[in-house]
Amino acid sequence: MTFTIAIDGPAAAGKGTLSRRIAEDYGFHHLDTGLTYRATAKALIDRGLPLDDEAVAAEVARTLDLGGLDRAVLSAHEIGEAASKIAVMPSVRRALVEAQRGFAAREPGTVLDGRDIGTVVCPDAAVKLYVTASPEVRARRRYDEIVGNGGVADFETVLDDIRRRDERDMGRADSPLKPADDAHLLDTSEMGIEAAFSAAKSIIDAALKH
Ligand code: DC
Repeated sequence: MTFTIAIDGPAAAGKGTLSRRIAEDYGFHHLDTGLTYRATAKALIDRGLPLDDEAVAAEVARTLDLGGLDRAVLSAHEIGEAASKIAVMPSVRRALVEAQRGFAAREPGTVLDGRDIGTVVCPDAAVKLYVTASPEVRARRRYDEIVGNGGVADFETVLDDIRRRDERDMGRADSPLKPADDAHLLDTSEMGIEAAFSAAKSIIDAALKH
């Protein structure tokens, strides 16, 4: 049996960086499940297909190739917005969750990050982490990232975006973002990546000993 680590949390909480770090440290496969929603949205946009037709979006989701997910291409803001719209569609979620479960079964271990990994995709994961930070801290990190990459941003706009994304992710009927009952909460508001990583590592090491 493989060893699966489920990492959930809102946008810009730091779960991507943390997940990659954990996967590298343990030699596990990593899947950022947000990219599966983003790639589906981008495929619709590229083919000139509508973003509000569930049957069409689900068909595209069913043919998605997990091997070809390019983070750099998929990180655009508009793609994130489009992804959060198709992520409310149950048949899109069913198709992507099936692909994600296939990935989760890989040996020797897997790290999946997203919004519903501990609650829906991998309810039997060996370790579940719920990574959060205040909206202001998350907006500040996103803002610094955009400006650091040479972009232009307005802090209040970034903060509004984060709040709207939270509402959409937490308020949807199918698989809303929430901590699993057995998830370990990790609030990174006052924590750097190293502190978050060592907190996660002690939780994972304890589970590996069982
Ligand atoms: O984490 P992200 O910004 O790449 O996610 C893009 C959108 O996809 C986000 O609005 C929430 C959605 N998503 C989801 O519904 N379930 C997941 N497991 C991962 C992402």
